[in-house]
Amino acid sequence: MSTNNLNGRWPRLTRRGFLSGLSVTAGGAALAACGTGAGGASSSSSEGNAGGAGVTELGAQTVTFDGLHQAGIATPEQSNLNLVAFNLRDGADKGAVRRLMRVWTDDARRLTQGGTPLGSLEPELADTPANLTITCGFGPRLFELIGAPEQRPEWLAPLPEFSRDRLDERWGQSDLVLQICADDPLTVAHATRHMIRAGVDYAATDWIQQGFLDARGVQTKGETPRNLFGQKDGTENLSSGAELEDHVWITEGPEWLRGGSAMVVRRIFMNVDTWEILDRASREVSTGRDLAEGAPLSGSEEFEEPDFEAVDHTGLPMIDPASHIARARAPEGHPEQVIRRRPYNYDLPPDPQVSLEMESEGVPVLSNSGQIFICFQRDPTRQFVPIQARLDEADRLNQWITHIGSAVYALPPGVSAEGGSGDSYWGAALLAE
Ligand code: HEM
Repeated sequence: MSTNNLNGRWPRLTRRGFLSGLSVTAGGAALAACGTGAGGASSSSSEGNAGGAGVTELGAQTVTFDGLHQAGIATPEQSNLNLVAFNLRDGADKGAVRRLMRVWTDDARRLTQGGTPLGSLEPELADTPANLTITCGFGPRLFELIGAPEQRPEWLAPLPEFSRDRLDERWGQSDLVLQICADDPLTVAHATRHMIRAGVDYAATDWIQQGFLDARGVQTKGETPRNLFGQKDGTENLSSGAELEDHVWITEGPEWLRGGSAMVVRRIFMNVDTWEILDRASREVSTGRDLAEGAPLSGSEEFEEPDFEAVDHTGLPMIDPASHIARARAPEGHPEQVIRRRPYNYDLPPDPQVSLEMESEGVPVLSNSGQIFICFQRDPTRQFVPIQARLDEADRLNQWITHIGSAVYALPPGVSAEGGSGDSYWGAALLAE
């Protein structure tokens, strides 16, 4: 468990306390108007306040909240991320978690649909949902605290230690997580602040990982985003409905989790300082794709199938067998070893501690950058873990990357507003009286 939690820093406001005397605006309408289809579809919204004066089409866009699955998993990456980890406060029991989930689900539904959550102190900041999604996950300890250890899926446990890990407790496992993404940093900041405050009686913030991709609109829609090594990152990924059905949505194990998913979070430092010393061709060899197009080194187009058997005129493999894509790809006979990746970049001011710890090859580390690697699957022990074990053993990219944080969460299925079918709040089938 992390040591830098912010426990106790927030004023002990009760929800009732900050509700009193505050007006509630158009959010209720948004709540009633939500559909019950599969979560994740994006649309321009006229619900709530979204799309008011001065708000662009992008600012008003919403991603459907209600559905079989939570939004934020199948949803194409928005430009900004706050991944917020929480620990339950001392004494929190099943009833407390139930109350927290009711509040959070209702608030997330309103915020994502451009409405105003109950008790909002800054309703104007909810006017631009900008494809906001808020996705909730449960950590292992939660099941002990609610007195239902038998409901914890077996895979929800610390990941095995990998030989190259340099994990910092600061980015470790927590009881709960909220993945908050939108195409506007202010929207993300407001949603984060609201959710933290709304849950303050029950849960204390442990860590926040802030990430970003290209701003929406600077690249053509659907263009693969680049990471801070300049690589297109996300070319080969699970995205179609059928792929998600087969590998991402949970269909076995505890009943309450069917339709949910498993989230693995790894914070990965990327040594930009040593990476930049490398010539361009070697950078491409390390990954097995070229930098310009993201094409496999056996071809010329980004989305063409890599040919791992192809050799060059000297008889050497065009894609190095130790390259990142060769090692990450599911080996024959193991089609289940695939994941939906949803990584974000982080880029922070230089940190003397990081510089000290990450120095390699005598090259001073000036950067404090990397990736918040987030991936979704049915069962990390059969998907993320064997892939990472192969990468840990031999991946050319290892020379420039170091895993410094790790956590796993069970994501309950999607919800539907009162009157619909399925859970009415996150984890209802687990937490009901
Ligand atoms: C900072 C760390 C990492 C960087 C910079 C990175 C970068 C990349 C890049 C550039 C590609 C090729 C383009 C694409 O298909 O998206 C790729 C592919 C991939 N990566 Fe990573 N990656 C990182 C960590 C990881 C981790 C931790 C895993 C899982 C354990 C992983 C799994 C994969 C998979 C499954 C593919 C697709 C391979 C295929 O072609 O079948 N990556 N990554």
